[in-house]
Amino acid sequence: MEENVILSVKNLKQYFEFKSAYVKAVNGVSFDVKKGEILALAGESGCGKSTTAKCIMGLNRITSGEIYFKGNKISDRNVYRAHSKDIHKNLQIVFQDSASALNPKMRIKDIIAEPLRANNICTSQAALDKRVESLMEQTGLDLIYKDRYPYELSGGQRQRAAIARSISTSPDLIIADEPIASLDVSIQAQIVNLFKRLQREHGFSFIFIAHDLSVVKYISDRTAVMLKGRIVEMAPTTELFKNPLHGYTKALISAVPLPDPIYERNKKILEYDFSEFNENGRLTEVLPEHFVYK
Ligand SMILES: Nc1ncnc2c1ncn2[C@@H]1O[C@H](COP(=O)(O)OP(=O)(O)OP(=O)(O)O)[C@@H](O)[C@H]1O
Ligand SMILES: [Mg+2]
Repeated sequence: MEENVILSVKNLKQYFEFKSAYVKAVNGVSFDVKKGEILALAGESGCGKSTTAKCIMGLNRITSGEIYFKGNKISDRNVYRAHSKDIHKNLQIVFQDSASALNPKMRIKDIIAEPLRANNICTSQAALDKRVESLMEQTGLDLIYKDRYPYELSGGQRQRAAIARSISTSPDLIIADEPIASLDVSIQAQIVNLFKRLQREHGFSFIFIAHDLSVVKYISDRTAVMLKGRIVEMAPTTELFKNPLHGYTKALISAVPLPDPIYERNKKILEYDFSEFNENGRLTEVLPEHFVYK
């Protein structure tokens, strides 16, 4: 594995059995995440984004394929167990719905402190308190919320607490699964900017999952577009938007609103003809670092 690769997913498959048929939620996905990069996973509802994230987190028993985290094959149960301490400290996830992800019976300060305690990161209560306060400041959460419970916070504030918790152990990789989808539009931009700033300051690698491309364009270094459990296109984000090659990517990009009312009034949203989808295709590098499924 390349030295600068933090996560490597190889031909990952996750099938679910349903009424004696299989749902191929993830059907042969391969990608790397480099140190310090923001990779976006985009695609419509049901394409397999969350399932991919859950497989990486070790929450699913995968059907086949391999997942390497810092060179360790964590898709192997024994390897996962052997490295579980490192994984719990260095691989964090932020969910869409922070309201249900945060323990309702815990105060905000304890929610943020929990991973620090579990990983023995602070040696004294005073150091722990200081660390929690610093994390709250970094994520724009007023210290008056320290002793409050999640239900006493707004959705945006709860997401800030979830983010503070996720960065508390200085992880190598954070996966955020649609972290802004349940928030008001005005709050969405704040949270995206917060992620962007924290990523720059802390340098963690970041998988940002989103169903639409407008945020992806703004935040990510590289984008993988998923459809029906596969990656149909993957490229540096600027290249993907300048030169989309797969019909599905073209359709997604055509739906991204631009701040130009005349253009918006006249624009045509492209439609992807799903009958074009080749079930037996593969992801091929057609230009340097630009992969297309065909
Ligand atoms: N535990 C499960 N059992 C059975 N089917 C599942 C399970 N989890 C996911 N699926 C199915 O796998 C497919 C992919 O689901 P997934 O949640 O990964 O999609 P997604 O891309 O995250 O969608 P969304 O944008 O709606 O969050 C869907 O058809 C879903 O119904
Ligand atoms: Mg999902």
